[in-house]
Amino acid sequence: MLFIEPVESRKALFFCLSVLSRGACMGVIRLPGLIDPHVHMREPGGTHKEDWDSGTCAALAGGYTCVLAMPNTLPPLTDSRTLERSLAAARRKARCDYGVHLGAGAGNVQAAASLAERVVGLKMYLDQTFGPLQLGDLAALNGHMARWPRQRPLLVHAEGSSIAAALQLAWLNHRPVHVCHVSRKAELELIRAARERGALVTCEVAPHHLFLTEDDAPSLGPGRCEVRPRLATGADRDALWAGLKSGVIDCLATDHAPHTAAEKDGENPPPGFPGLETALGLMLGRLELDELVAVMHTNPSRIFGLPQQPETWIEVDPDACWVVTAGQMHSRCGWTPFEGRRLTGRVRSVTLRGRLAFRDGEVLAPAGWGQNVRSD
Ligand code: DOR
Ligand code: ZN
Ligand code: ZN
Repeated sequence: MLFIEPVESRKALFFCLSVLSRGACMGVIRLPGLIDPHVHMREPGGTHKEDWDSGTCAALAGGYTCVLAMPNTLPPLTDSRTLERSLAAARRKARCDYGVHLGAGAGNVQAAASLAERVVGLKMYLDQTFGPLQLGDLAALNGHMARWPRQRPLLVHAEGSSIAAALQLAWLNHRPVHVCHVSRKAELELIRAARERGALVTCEVAPHHLFLTEDDAPSLGPGRCEVRPRLATGADRDALWAGLKSGVIDCLATDHAPHTAAEKDGENPPPGFPGLETALGLMLGRLELDELVAVMHTNPSRIFGLPQQPETWIEVDPDACWVVTAGQMHSRCGWTPFEGRRLTGRVRSVTLRGRLAFRDGEVLAPAGWGQNVRSD
């Protein structure tokens, strides 16, 4: 068995590797529980797509022991009442650990900061996407940048030149900012340049932007290819891989955004792809194991200030070949953009805080086993 576990050291987390044989060419890799800083759990308001139960089952099946949920629910999570509604459901239903990001609206500039203790980060939508949370008003944008506590993560959905606006406002307010789902080469170059000049900017990439391009749109279909940011070019995809390998991109975040197959195939298809159950299988073999642990565990944990999960690990069979099939998934959405893809490497088991939470396709952790990473 190959054993990879984070070990605290003076400067950073390092990883120790030891190989324990387990028969001829069979082996199981032990990795730290994966952390996804960007998922959509759809509760309240969209539980026919996903809820805290189905979404955290999907997380465990994908090797994730902690997920951070976005606030673009219906209604969006912008005040203590809506936040409490989602957190109460999570408390009852979640099977893996979780946190929630608060939504930045035009009307909650003052109130948001008072809720900072209860959430992981503040999410600002600078562009149009799913749900009503787009923040077009410059005064509100700058107000949130100025008031949200500096030690708390501030995340932006910002595409193209919106990234320039987000970086500039963060710079003017002397604060860090985390750019969600970078998808274009030009965006990455801007982030790299800003970092080289001392800007406190981190960023993430989604698996679909690493494995799919606009050339895949015809075979996905007109509704199923819809996602924000949109699928980009092959040159953009190559730049994202280079950014991931060189460390300009800090995290892999699935942006698990489930909508039902009927919705994707219907009129006005909503944008978004499910991703929790395919991310690890896609990334295994494409990244070195230490790179994978950095972008799927260590960096998300550090950037979002998450507590250690004691006695928590996953076991992965790196040689297991499988074919992605929506019918075998735990997500309620019933489809995947990777249908039919052959992957090598699969989660065998997940142990979360000392309890066997998932084994060979079956979720074993009960609803409510998941804990909030913030004060509950
Ligand atoms: O494609 C997307 N879907 N992009 C987003 O930013 C939101 C997400 C959703 O919530 O469905
Ligand atoms: Zn987004
Ligand atoms: Zn998202």
